[in-house]
Amino acid sequence: MCGMKALIPAAGHGTRFLPVTRVVPKEMLPVGAKPAIQLIVEEALAAGADEVVIVVSPEKEIVRKYFDGDAALASRIRWAWQTEQRGLGHAVLQGAPLLAQEREPVLVLLGDALVSGEAPSAAMAAISRAHGGASVVGLEEVPLEKVSRYGIVKGTQVDERVWKLDDLVEKPAPEAAPSRLAIAGRYLLDPAIFDLLATQTPGHGGEIQLTDSIRRLLAEKSVYGYRYPGHRHDIGNPAGYLETLNAFSA
Ligand code: G1P
Repeated sequence: MCGMKALIPAAGHGTRFLPVTRVVPKEMLPVGAKPAIQLIVEEALAAGADEVVIVVSPEKEIVRKYFDGDAALASRIRWAWQTEQRGLGHAVLQGAPLLAQEREPVLVLLGDALVSGEAPSAAMAAISRAHGGASVVGLEEVPLEKVSRYGIVKGTQVDERVWKLDDLVEKPAPEAAPSRLAIAGRYLLDPAIFDLLATQTPGHGGEIQLTDSIRRLLAEKSVYGYRYPGHRHDIGNPAGYLETLNAFSA
């Protein structure tokens, strides 16, 4: 049986959460007694990933030091480094030397996105299996005035929470948005994504966008969207972090 790998991009500068992020990476902020990123690692393992690659920048060595203190977790984590900030697609591509040759599906969990309620990753793995190993992106519905902050998808609804996608667009203007369904921090991707990222030209904001490579993946393979029932919390800013603490202490 084909295994599954996970990748957590966690190399961002945390500029929306200064000054604390000068020394404490946002992913290390505590939620209860654990740093936020540990909850994400646990979500990936619970969904069936047998290994987790964490992409960090050299100044975030503390994240590695933290996991090195837990032998059971550390044995399932490998590290990749991103030394320049060239976008989410570029961050994911840094995992390619460790993962691309395995040709196994890759669960990407954004390091600053925690989901309260039902964890989306396990459900996404089940949807992928039900559709012959297809890729699946986690979705949430957002108000029209916020579509320009997200990757937005277009598709046909095939189940209460599942769409078969036929287009994705990164951060569209409201009048150009094909729907209000936003990509929300979780992706289960066919390993062909690494080949596509390697040749991806810069998109929105001059960055290498993961959304653009998933759009190209659609030309070759099926991609589904799952509007998960849980709530996504952005720990990358003080208000989002407080909301996260409230949600996780409930
Ligand atoms: C990234 C993705 C975007 C997605 C968002 C939330 O944007 O590029 O498609 O909707 O995460 O998961 P960022 O928040 O890094 O600008």
